[in-house]
Amino acid sequence: MTRITKAVIPAAGLGTRFLPATKAMPKEMLPVVDKPAIQYVVEEAVAAGLDDILMIVGRNKNALANHFDRVTELEETLEAKGDDAKLQRVVEVSHLADVHFVRQGDPRGLGHAVSRARKHVGRESFAVLLGDDLIDARDPLLTRMLDEHAARDATIVALLEVDPDQIHLYGAAEVEPTDDPDVVRVTGLVEKPAKEHAPSNYAVIGRYILKPEVFDVLERTPPGKGGEIQLTDALMEMAGDVEGTGGVYGVVFRGRRYDTGDKLDYIKAVIQLAGDRDDLGPDLIAWLAGYVASRGA
Ligand code: UTP
Repeated sequence: MTRITKAVIPAAGLGTRFLPATKAMPKEMLPVVDKPAIQYVVEEAVAAGLDDILMIVGRNKNALANHFDRVTELEETLEAKGDDAKLQRVVEVSHLADVHFVRQGDPRGLGHAVSRARKHVGRESFAVLLGDDLIDARDPLLTRMLDEHAARDATIVALLEVDPDQIHLYGAAEVEPTDDPDVVRVTGLVEKPAKEHAPSNYAVIGRYILKPEVFDVLERTPPGKGGEIQLTDALMEMAGDVEGTGGVYGVVFRGRRYDTGDKLDYIKAVIQLAGDRDDLGPDLIAWLAGYVASRGA
């Protein structure tokens, strides 16, 4: 099997939960402390050895493209001021990876966004990372998923055990155990099920290792929940070992994850990530403690 080098990051959703902030900017560009969410995701892909990045973009492509490009005037100004630390932070973004863009056209769902990667990906397996789903760099999930893909030659999804009251927000997996406590075989998937119809509390989160056969499956996947072409529906078919592609396995993630596509979770993510930083954490936590006390909570 050839080593996976390509990562696809869909960032063409309308981000309606964040309007009006996302009117002229994709939600993946919302700052999380001092970097846009998508930069964390690109850094995660690069740390796992995937430095060929394809972003699926919508009408607000420019903000994304500009962020990963050189900005000569800014670099010159920082250089003239001798502000090397800031200069380095600006320059390193444009050297992170080889970043490509393709337009989705109409946002017809995550499955449709992924299908737009077909030409760029070709006949190789590839990773998909959702730009509003952050995985803490201290809890490497993608590397573990790539290892599982190499060992099983199968589609790999990431699963998180969630509170049953939350499962309606995710794709839910029906699973069977394997001899590895951190890996399950996925036998079925349901997109955003009601609590009483969920096959388990295992929620599919935004990291996938897909095989190129998924493109044929996506092509024949009709619109599903919400009238959108759902990646979950295509993965459901892959779970049936379509054309001997090895089925679908789930790596159970027990680390730290931050959802930046939801307002409350976004605020929590900013606080947690800032709280962990040496330059911001001590002051932030001291202030938070006082604030919470002042609210009588
Ligand atoms: P979400 O459902 O979280 O994104 O899709 P959304 O539709 O933009 O969000 P809300 O609910 O309106 O606030 C998950 C991921 O898939 C991408 C999104 O950008 C996000 O990263 N996506 C979704 C696409 O690229 N294209 C689509 O048609 C739909």
